[in-house]
Amino acid sequence: MTKYTLLLTLIVLTFSCKKDAEKPLESTEKTSSKYVEDAHSYAQPNKAVVTHLNLNIGVDFDNQVIEGQANYDIESRASSKLILDTKYLEIHEVEADGKPTYFELGDFDEQLGSPLIIEISEDTKQVTVHYSTTEKTEALQWLNPQQTADKQHPFLFTQGQAILTRTWIPIQDSPQIRITYDAKVKVPSGLMAVMSAENPKEIVANGKYEFKMQQPISPYLMALAVGDLAYKAVNDRTGVYAEKSMIDKAHAEFSDMEKMVVAAENLYGDYDWEQFDVIVLPPSFPFGGMENPRLTFATPTVIAGDKSLTSLIAHELAHSWSGNLVTNATWNDFWLNEGFTVYFEIRIMEALYGVERANMIALIGRQDLTEEIEAFRETPEMTKLKLDLSDKNPDDGMNSIAYDKGYLFLRTLEEKVGRDKFDAFLKQYFKSHAFSTITTEAFVDYLNTHLLEPNEVDFNVNEWIYEPGIPENQAVITSDKFENAEQTLQTFISEKSIDTSLTTNWTTQEWVHFIRNFPEGMTAEDMKRLDDAFDFTHSKNSHIAMVWYEQAINLDYHDNGVDREIEDFLIRVGRRWYVSTLYKAFKRHDKVDEALAIYKKARPNYHSVTANTIDDLLGFKS
Ligand code: BES
Ligand code: ZN
Repeated sequence: MTKYTLLLTLIVLTFSCKKDAEKPLESTEKTSSKYVEDAHSYAQPNKAVVTHLNLNIGVDFDNQVIEGQANYDIESRASSKLILDTKYLEIHEVEADGKPTYFELGDFDEQLGSPLIIEISEDTKQVTVHYSTTEKTEALQWLNPQQTADKQHPFLFTQGQAILTRTWIPIQDSPQIRITYDAKVKVPSGLMAVMSAENPKEIVANGKYEFKMQQPISPYLMALAVGDLAYKAVNDRTGVYAEKSMIDKAHAEFSDMEKMVVAAENLYGDYDWEQFDVIVLPPSFPFGGMENPRLTFATPTVIAGDKSLTSLIAHELAHSWSGNLVTNATWNDFWLNEGFTVYFEIRIMEALYGVERANMIALIGRQDLTEEIEAFRETPEMTKLKLDLSDKNPDDGMNSIAYDKGYLFLRTLEEKVGRDKFDAFLKQYFKSHAFSTITTEAFVDYLNTHLLEPNEVDFNVNEWIYEPGIPENQAVITSDKFENAEQTLQTFISEKSIDTSLTTNWTTQEWVHFIRNFPEGMTAEDMKRLDDAFDFTHSKNSHIAMVWYEQAINLDYHDNGVDREIEDFLIRVGRRWYVSTLYKAFKRHDKVDEALAIYKKARPNYHSVTANTIDDLLGFKS
């Protein structure tokens, strides 16, 4: 941290305009360790804060329990209490500097869990909590062999974001906390354990693994996966983990990983985490990807066989800067993580594959944004970038607004100030805020003083961030390829016949656009003709299949075995974005009973994150 503080000071001193010079240096602000109010954590880090975690746990697949000790280095500011977040954990015993100390669990809240209040003294240096997880844990998904690719061994993975780490480790679970960690993890012999840390590359016979994470990370980035895994390097700092039957496919699909890291570094500065690996998880993983430091967790649905969905890898890589290095201070500031990451993702894709591909990805997001704004028409305050999620689940803010409105804001800003200035600004932003957290307000301040004022640019920043909807001055994104896809579709429909030569060399993005933009009056018969020509129903590309299934539900299309494929897809895949799109389509068309019939079979395969969302959507009570 000092390295960066010093750098920042030098930069501010060297380049400061008059206005800056009159202000207190930002470096003093940064080191004053003031944590802001976080409605989603009980921790009171301004009083006593955890700085390092030493975890020693055993993973028991038979009982589906993680049990062990978490030992913390703490910095206390004259407090007699250390407060940790917990949820659905059993706390057996707590020690302060090696001696048993008094602790209590406060009232339970459905969303936040219970504060673990631990008695300490002013000079307490370390606290140890002996604990175990319970069957209610929300972070962990225990999979039986049937739910894996190889069907031989069980599998376990964690998902911490947003506030689930507290369900497998007692922790100060606010994104503004930063900890380094060591871990000892014992797993059944024959399995490999990997974490968001320095990782093994081979299975260790006795099942004992040791980990180190030397860069301070936010608690939501603590992560563990255990299974019969193999590793295959792309080069000396990038590579993939997967089950054996998946490893070669994954390796081929992600062979541009190192190029992505180089492109990212060229844009916004050094990759600060040494290693960038991806683990391909079983299909129930609830997200496309999760940016766990050094080891991105990814869904196998990203493997299309032609690298056409790997913008997801660019996205998770981009989080190594926006999110992991410079972190949203609270979940109300989530757009700072995701909006910047989408912007950065699309810049990486542009650098690797050209502006046409980048614009297609951007346009798909632009359409998602229009749909999301429409979905929030009764609650327009949810379309602000800066949210107020107090007494809401942080998950409520995790939608297209943060991602795609965030992106559109940054793209509009880039066009206004010019790419060179914008890139220099972003590079400096990441450098000066590295390994720290930022609120929306602090970002606006930084933007004004480091980009807008020095360049005398007038920009409606406040409208973009603090008002609902999309401002008038939004960047306009276009794609000739998408326009062509729309025209081709029109031709197919009006001529009631399909000339497949018009679609040669189409990319996944064009197909997705083609399928999503069926015109008014399109019928199930039209879908049947398309399906006979292109066999979308059996597409191996998960994104194409998903949008096709959505239209099948929309237009009551039932031919070519599509109902069976939809059901199989919903049972096999747990990726929340995909499955919720399909269940929402059922609901929109008054087919909740059909949806529920499938959901009852699919739900046991879903991680809690997905199950909770779909429970709410379909009004399902377990
Ligand atoms: N960090 C998110 C996933 C996430 C968000 C988990 C909120 C929990 C709460 C990740 O980087 C992400 O955005 N994943 C997307 C990928 C995409 C936009 C390319 C996903 O999972 O679909
Ligand atoms: Zn993301």
